[in-house]
Amino acid sequence: MRQLIAGNWKMNGTSASLAEIEAVCEMVAGDPPNCDVLICPPATLIAQAAWKAKGRIAIGGQNCRAEISGAFTGDISAEMLKDAGASAVIVGHSERRQYHGETDAIVGQKAKAAWRAGLTAIVCIGESEQQRLNGHALHTCGNQINESVPDGMTAAATVIAYEPIWAIGTGRTPTNGEIAEVHDHIRACLTKRFGSEGQKARILYGGSLKPSNAAEILRLSNVGGGLIGGASLKASDFGAILKASSRNP
Ligand code: PGA
Repeated sequence: MRQLIAGNWKMNGTSASLAEIEAVCEMVAGDPPNCDVLICPPATLIAQAAWKAKGRIAIGGQNCRAEISGAFTGDISAEMLKDAGASAVIVGHSERRQYHGETDAIVGQKAKAAWRAGLTAIVCIGESEQQRLNGHALHTCGNQINESVPDGMTAAATVIAYEPIWAIGTGRTPTNGEIAEVHDHIRACLTKRFGSEGQKARILYGGSLKPSNAAEILRLSNVGGGLIGGASLKASDFGAILKASSRNP
């Protein structure tokens, strides 16, 4: 599968930031990258972003609630994201797990909701610094795959994002060997459970991915793209990462 380069704007951006989406779309139209391109702006911008993108890049949400509708003030369903023009949704980002108490079980329900609505579910997993120091990084990620990826996963509707929590927004990244080791382990877990679908599903790396380290990380074993926070906010940085992906086989 082609690599997927996905931007996660988190709680950043107002309508003025749509100019960055337009700039990325122009880059992609002028010099088509050899990867799929997705930007997940805050929910307030999804409809306008999708309208601006006109299919040149994909637009996604950063979270959804599992239910279709109901008395859940402030929440947004996967169906609503789809209706606004999204084609994917991030579920289980470590910031959601940390600040909103999302468990693996809740993340699994959200992934199913994404599938129900016809969205690609980008399921995030990753170990804390303490878990890595204790030698539990592989075990933690394997457990999260088992607990937060529902039965019936298909590679077309699911992307896994490995984001070591200690690397998110810190400027620190694991060594290339450590990234490859975890991605190989995730692949083995997925294949054991889902067979050929598990073999095909893309596994993104996330956590301080930026223009200066993108090329080397994106060529590692079983790295199927990247989930990018800080460096996705400016079209110039994001565009440089798209180019780095295009250079990889
Ligand atoms: P970062 O964030 O690129 O700013 O480290 C990645 C993410 O949280 O998705």
